[in-house]
Amino acid sequence: MVLQAAGLAVRWVTGGEVAVEAHSLLQENLGPANVEDLATFIKTIGPSRDDRAMTRMLCAFDDSGVLAVVAGARLGRLNAAMLLYSAVRNDMRRKGVYSALRSKVLDALRDEDARPLDYVVSELEPEGILWRYYRKHWNAWIVPCDYRVPDTQGLTPRLLDLVIVPGERRPGLDEIAEIVREVYEGVYRLVPADSSDEYLSVIQSIRNDGPEPGA
Ligand SMILES: CC(C)(COP(=O)(O)OP(=O)(O)OC[C@H]1O[C@@H](n2cnc3c(N)ncnc32)[C@H](O)[C@@H]1OP(=O)(O)O)[C@@H](O)C(=O)NCCC(=O)NCCS
Repeated sequence: MVLQAAGLAVRWVTGGEVAVEAHSLLQENLGPANVEDLATFIKTIGPSRDDRAMTRMLCAFDDSGVLAVVAGARLGRLNAAMLLYSAVRNDMRRKGVYSALRSKVLDALRDEDARPLDYVVSELEPEGILWRYYRKHWNAWIVPCDYRVPDTQGLTPRLLDLVIVPGERRPGLDEIAEIVREVYEGVYRLVPADSSDEYLSVIQSIRNDGPEPGA
């Protein structure tokens, strides 16, 4: 509705020149250090991923090309989804474009398995725009651990919050290690995750004395 009203076309993208354009838009809006390099990006969004992390990327266009991107993956072993990348060109922000694309991506990921998603995982800058939005409107839970983006795929390793928006249910504290493993192995393709120092440091940092989600 929002997208139609703004006169924007929307298309699922799995490769080609449009994927290269989407990658540039993400780099411009998130910073090159926070987007995997082009070769792994093309692999990530391509149609041939295994059923551990099935990725979908939706792009919005106007006459000048790609102006918004939201990409997510279904984490098959968890019956959950992860939002990987989101960016909207500066002049098109605050019109609901991100929200509309996010909702379509999550619907598509849900439909991959015809089962409602248990929850949605994101890696977010503490106190950033989406962090606040998820906290305020989506009842998000900040996982009690020192979460790290690993040093892989051309990304700059850094501390972020691992944020979970409940769907059908909330995961418990006892599920955190499994969630981090699926992200590291399914999305970052670090198999086995135990060979990554960042993974081991995240697991060691899990605080079992934190509040249970929803508390
Ligand atoms: C974050 C981003 C994708 C949001 O895109 P958008 O199309 O403007 O978002 P929406 O219009 O759908 O807004 C959704 C909600 O987010 C919040 N929000 C969005 N931009 C905001 C801002 N500048 N300040 C405060 N809240 C903001 C609002 O709660 C908004 O809902 P509302 O307008 O009903 O109040 C866009 O600002 C962006 O590309 N930022 C740079 C890249 C980035 O930070 N990506 C996210 C990290 S992965």
